Amino acid sequence: MTLSAESPLRNQLVSRLGSRAIVFVGLMGAGKTSIGRRVAQALDLPFVDSDHEIETVSRLTVPELFERYGEPEFRALEHRVIERLVREGAGIVSTGGGAFMNAQTRAVVAEHAISVWLKADLDVLMERVSKKQTRPLLKTADPRATMAKLMDDRYPTYAQADLTIESRDEKREVITAEVIEALDRYLDLATRRTASAS
Ligand code: S3P
Repeated sequence: MTLSAESPLRNQLVSRLGSRAIVFVGLMGAGKTSIGRRVAQALDLPFVDSDHEIETVSRLTVPELFERYGEPEFRALEHRVIERLVREGAGIVSTGGGAFMNAQTRAVVAEHAISVWLKADLDVLMERVSKKQTRPLLKTADPRATMAKLMDDRYPTYAQADLTIESRDEKREVITAEVIEALDRYLDLATRRTASAS
């Protein structure tokens, strides 16, 4: 989807968004970074990947952080980084798959952002994560079973996101357009509610 910086849809959406960020949540392989980047491009907003930001501030890769300091330390750093990013205001933030499982992170995202869950089925996730062997949580004897367990554990929590978009085996441009349409509807409804309440 290409929206020029002067497009009325883009301008209306960005003005309704105000200082809120748009935060992508969902499992590894759901497309948070690739779709997030495209939505940022279409809306002409800055894009940040929280894992990438964590790697910049810690000067370690995510696998190194897990290995040297353990998952709890990684999660604490992840929370601090995401809190700072969403408080900084408008922009698109893609988060690591575990980020939204932290209640404090969910609270800060609810206060300062609109959350979008990219929901995908097991086959789609496995097909995508099999291309990169860098995810510490999937270094198990049976990564597919691990992913299935993560779906069971996490999907009820991801469902608390403001919007849910099915991230399926479809062109990224199509999913990007669906995200933007859903954001537009969501912001339109929120604007009407505020207007009728005042
Ligand atoms: C994790 C997902 C990863 C990364 C870390 C833990 C998770 O990010 O943050 O390996 O708990 O699901 P992606 O979802 O971007 O792969």
